[in-house]
Amino acid sequence: MWLRGFSRGTLTELSRAVTNEARHTMQRNRPLARVFVSRRVPQEALSLLRDSGICDIKHWDSDDPVPRTDLLKGVAGVDGLYCLLTEKIDKELLDTAGPNLKVISTMSVGFDHLSLEEIKKRGIRVGYTPDVLTNASAELTVALLLATSRRLMEAVAEAKNGGWGTWKPMWLCGYGLSDSTVGIVGLGRIGFAVAQRLKPFGVKKFLYTDYEPKPEAAAEIQAEYVSLDKLAEQSDFVTIHCTLTPETVGLCNKEFFSKMKRTAVFINVSRGAVVNQDDLYQALSTGQIAAAGLDVTVPEPLPTNHPLFALKNCVILPHIASATLATRTTMAVLAANNLLAGLKDEPMPKELTL
Ligand code: GLV
Repeated sequence: MWLRGFSRGTLTELSRAVTNEARHTMQRNRPLARVFVSRRVPQEALSLLRDSGICDIKHWDSDDPVPRTDLLKGVAGVDGLYCLLTEKIDKELLDTAGPNLKVISTMSVGFDHLSLEEIKKRGIRVGYTPDVLTNASAELTVALLLATSRRLMEAVAEAKNGGWGTWKPMWLCGYGLSDSTVGIVGLGRIGFAVAQRLKPFGVKKFLYTDYEPKPEAAAEIQAEYVSLDKLAEQSDFVTIHCTLTPETVGLCNKEFFSKMKRTAVFINVSRGAVVNQDDLYQALSTGQIAAAGLDVTVPEPLPTNHPLFALKNCVILPHIASATLATRTTMAVLAANNLLAGLKDEPMPKELTL
């Protein structure tokens, strides 16, 4: 027999090589997967998709979001979609894309722009980008919290515009973290990373609330699980890190703000819709709470004539929590790898469980 003389190990190697070759041949012979990329993304991600040799890419190569009509045109008949949090992936879009669509990869950790029920019904897989933006987002939260509580925007404006008369004992006084109580709404990856960074500032106590207690994470930062009401009542700083779901829409409303201390600072780095902005405006403008720092709003961008922009005690950033060069590049590459894995029916590096 021609096999005589081969050891079992060599045969295993041989059969593995044959299987791999067969898989590569199948992949080579497969028609290219049609992919739509909905924005200009870091070149590293695009090169990965191009060099994979398995994609035929249509690209909305602009820093501005793709208009809905072009998005719908772009996704018709695709196998894969690489999108951002600015694209609403709903029933209309999925119907337009049609039955070939097997994978959606979003370059974001948030997925509230995806109609998960519709996606699941169609058996489409979803990739997203958790973990890689945790540090950048936690860092930005701390920066926003300090800028808001220590009134940095007002101070910079006063220094520049001639308001800096002399050193005045009570001028531009804010609130410090030393000996404070910090309340975290949503002790997930980012909420936890924020607590770790705030601890060395001398925070006395961490409170948190979530769908359920998170004893392991809480033990590491000695945080106490409390109700939302108790968190509002007792915290000097409230920082929001929960995901946007039907249960968390408008969670921070009139009732919530009315329970907060008049000296408390409110920070939101999750999604704008977690906050009722009219109620926040009332709370800030009537002195019910001291100040707010927002990285997210409804809508985005927030119109420049929005009343919140007129308040000195409200600091508004244009959704930049994960915006470091390294983080955004890593997110883009991870989203590309998720997409490729989905197209090849392989396990994704980060797949959302539907
Ligand atoms: C940013 O908000 C993200 O979801 O990645």
